[in-house]
Amino acid sequence: MINSLSEFKHAAKQAIENPESFWNDIANEFQWISPWKQTLAFDFSTPEIKWFVGGKLNITENCLDRHLATQPNKTAILFEPNDPTEEAQHITYKELHSRVCQTANMLKANGAKKGDRICIYMPMVPELAIAVLACARIGAIHSVVFAGFSATALAARINDASCTMLLTADGGFRGAKTIGLKDIADEALQSCTTVESCIVFQRTNKQVNWNPIDRWWHEEIEKVDDHCPAEVMDSEDPLFILYTSGSTGKPKGMVHSCGGYMVYTAYTFQNVFQYQSNDVYWCTADIGWITGHSYIVYGPLANGATTVMFEGVPSYPDFDRFWEVCAKHKITHFYTAPTAIRALQKHPTALIDKHDLSSLKVLGSVGEPINAEAWHWYDAHVGKHNCPIVDTWWQTETGGILITSLAGVTPQKPTFATLPMPGIQAVLLNNEGDEIEGEGEGILAIKHPWPSIARTIWGDHERYKNVYFSAYPGYYFPGDGALRDAEGNFRITGRVDDVVIVSGHNLGTAPIENAINQHAEVVESAVVGFPHDIKGNALCAYVIVKDISIDKTLIEKEIREEVAKTIGPIAKPDRILVVSGLPKTRSGKIMRRILRKLAAGDDNNLGDISTLLNPEVVDEIRRQNS
Ligand code: WTA
Repeated sequence: MINSLSEFKHAAKQAIENPESFWNDIANEFQWISPWKQTLAFDFSTPEIKWFVGGKLNITENCLDRHLATQPNKTAILFEPNDPTEEAQHITYKELHSRVCQTANMLKANGAKKGDRICIYMPMVPELAIAVLACARIGAIHSVVFAGFSATALAARINDASCTMLLTADGGFRGAKTIGLKDIADEALQSCTTVESCIVFQRTNKQVNWNPIDRWWHEEIEKVDDHCPAEVMDSEDPLFILYTSGSTGKPKGMVHSCGGYMVYTAYTFQNVFQYQSNDVYWCTADIGWITGHSYIVYGPLANGATTVMFEGVPSYPDFDRFWEVCAKHKITHFYTAPTAIRALQKHPTALIDKHDLSSLKVLGSVGEPINAEAWHWYDAHVGKHNCPIVDTWWQTETGGILITSLAGVTPQKPTFATLPMPGIQAVLLNNEGDEIEGEGEGILAIKHPWPSIARTIWGDHERYKNVYFSAYPGYYFPGDGALRDAEGNFRITGRVDDVVIVSGHNLGTAPIENAINQHAEVVESAVVGFPHDIKGNALCAYVIVKDISIDKTLIEKEIREEVAKTIGPIAKPDRILVVSGLPKTRSGKIMRRILRKLAAGDDNNLGDISTLLNPEVVDEIRRQNS
């Protein structure tokens, strides 16, 4: 573990000078069935990337078996149910190992084998993590689909990967609501032909429809024992597929490999969070997203950590649930998304103060740029100015965290993700694709592969090449913009595909939002471009304010002034709509595509809004628009 700034600098230097020996040393700390013959083989032009070539392993031996000798009775997964009156579950490493092996045997008994794609559409219960690990145990490729997705979205993902098995549940609890997952799965399967068996976990005890391919999990698991040797996997065999949306077209099934993914997620978990053996680490993401894959399941378990799985939502039964759970389980590490922080920030701090948060040591942020207001609120009210905040920049495609501070080890800077991890050669490019030296602003790109970079898009290597490696040959192009200060700290400014050209000027919508967000009354905002007769494009700002009854004319004027002051008069939005919410994906990302269409008056052509977290706000915006 990197323990000091000088150790960090040393590691970063080593990783640049000799990446192969750097990663060899780290990879050697894991349990391999047989060693690799070549550390790295890559060519960004094809693109082909291979790590630990020829090495054999099974990631579950590293996440489970190897901890049995040293800490069999340590809690591996701490499950906090949706309903606070339902008892929490403490699953030890020994028990988790046994349950994963038994579940793996259940999958095999139902026809699953190495290389098969298994779709997992489950609520946040321990069996979800167990299912993921059981697939890895037998070398089946898991494709987890977030349990908030619609039947159409689920079917598209099942079909894209030709999954032969579906693991689901009768339903799931989310706050006061119950989601009928089995009903949704049934609807999805009507348009899927490859699924041969469907195993249903019982969670809500809700009456469900039953089809010939359906089996109850609790009945199937009884038929098998818990002895299941780990399948021997090649380092480059796919471990999982996870879908992420592109700026256009259908979702991209990012493919991650066994060896490199394991090494990088474990390495980053340990160093970023500075996890110590008695810590209780809680990442509030859902396993349906990459954050859950890498930093609830694989990274923490590979380090023998105690990882919390939370089934519920931050607002149930009240807006203090996060803080209540922190106090209850003496959470030491709390890793969440800015969108959650901003939502909670709207509520009185008395809701936090009534809970003892003194166990907290490290806070984390992930998924979007964290604005200054949210950062300072998080620091003051949750961390009590006593916990480092790691602002971790990464993507589904990168597998693990690329740019971040290391908690308490490297300096933090509010709203900056700060420095690349050792081994990550992050650069800034100008529009011509030339590297910018020193302080500056540009397009973020990565010059050299790291072990957990996605290897391809399932079934579409050409798209993988086009999206990530073609715009700037020789680099991995993540699609984000960034600025860098004199110390080399990176601040992610947002997607570069959301640039709007106004009167011939390139304007990033993210910096304008940052400016608007500086207004004391503003909670969140989104700026999009819409066609304009004279300027080509103009800007429309959707703004959520703390108090919806505010004088709208005044706040509009003040927002324009704020933008003019921070960026320049050119960036002043033509239209400002004060709204109560923004259309968001289930992971909390603003659906700009929809906002752009609404701003353009292209109301009837919004596409599928069924996967939105809050489809009702679309109507509200429509009404304001008309
Ligand atoms: C954004 C989530 C700023 C970014 C792990 C990236 C961030 C996209 C940060 C990937 C951060 C993620 N600061 N922006 N700390 N973390 N992003 O695939 O635009 O769901 O490209 O992965 O989220 O989202 P994804």
